[in-house]
Amino acid sequence: MANDESRISKGIANRAVAPAVLSGIRTPGECAEDTSPYSIRASSFFRHSTFGIRHLVNPMRILSGIQPSGPLHIGNYFGMMQPAIALQAEGEALYFIADYHALTTLRDAETLRVNSHRVALDFLACGLDPERATLFRHSDVPQVTELAWILSTVAPMGLLERATSYKDKLARGMSANVGLFSYPILMAADILIYDSDVVPVGKDQKQHIEITRDLAVKMNETFGQVFKLPEARIRAATETVPGIDGQKMSKSYGNNIDIFGDEKETRKRVMSIVTDSTPVEAPKDSERSTIVQLYSLFASKDELANMKERFKKGGTGYGDFKKELFEKLWEYLAPMRKRREEILRDKSYIDNVLARGAKHANEIANQVMQRVRAAVGLR
Ligand code: ADP
Ligand code: TRP
Repeated sequence: MANDESRISKGIANRAVAPAVLSGIRTPGECAEDTSPYSIRASSFFRHSTFGIRHLVNPMRILSGIQPSGPLHIGNYFGMMQPAIALQAEGEALYFIADYHALTTLRDAETLRVNSHRVALDFLACGLDPERATLFRHSDVPQVTELAWILSTVAPMGLLERATSYKDKLARGMSANVGLFSYPILMAADILIYDSDVVPVGKDQKQHIEITRDLAVKMNETFGQVFKLPEARIRAATETVPGIDGQKMSKSYGNNIDIFGDEKETRKRVMSIVTDSTPVEAPKDSERSTIVQLYSLFASKDELANMKERFKKGGTGYGDFKKELFEKLWEYLAPMRKRREEILRDKSYIDNVLARGAKHANEIANQVMQRVRAAVGLR
């Protein structure tokens, strides 16, 4: 196996087989010489040589980002982090802390610094494996803002005006700054600058990925085949995790249950899940219950079936169901809390991971930007 891998690895590194084997975009003819995406992809891929032969044939590149706008919650975990962590074994994964994006809403420098570090810590504690996936800070790849500018020159105003996330943010009283409006362009740049294939996200990000694809198509129509088209990967069962008020869980809605909240606070949050006024003895509707929806994330199939049955039967109050939910959730998260403590003991661990990640992300981004600059005529 090791021999096979190194033989194939050499083959691809020499680029003798790469264009034939790897599907993906071709660079425009005039800049084909030194801007191929393949060599960097192959070399980074073989850094993670434990992946197995399957991935040599199709090294899918997986990318996602998460804003350091506050503590991460279980909606983030099941909607994006867990799928992203599962995908790190499926190809070459790149995950970043979207600090440029967070600037659209955060106005305190120290808070941004602390949150960014905390997101890295929490993601690692949840199972991101820096030997397999690349973790980095968005702002360590400033080329992305250059690409955002280039994309903005082909982006139709109407496309951005239709973005629901912008409209939602305004409706919630945020000020209409240009950064908030052009957020989807920066996000498109984040994705396209790594030649990403797959983007694991929650459902709320679907439109952003569609905008990314629209901008990639627009660039390709205008300048030739510059970008490949990424796809959103949304897990149906966890596409929208409800918060304690039954709406989508979000840092900014105040309805979150944090992954690493302390025990007392977490219990309090769970116990304040909004329910209807059905009395203890009466049968209850499990289908629309936030308690059941959240319980389904942590419990086994049998445990879930059992809770649903007791909902139907009546005789158990919501308070007792909430206690069960809390116990399950707390137990489920225990190994992550333990891992987090371990990481915290090594003061330089996170900085080292992020520095390594930044280096690798820059290698890819620099290659893609060479291709982009050549395609649009900046070089
Ligand atoms: P928030 O809405 O709390 O600010 P982010 O916008 O930072 O969360 O989201 C980070 C990732 O987590 C995105 O991929 C997003 O789709 C996902 N996500 C956030 N909230 C939820 C949720 N309630 N259910 C499923 N996925 C979610
Ligand atoms: N917009 C995403 C969010 O709010 C974060 C993000 C920024 C992102 N750039 C990305 C997600 C690129 C996936 C890919 O959650």
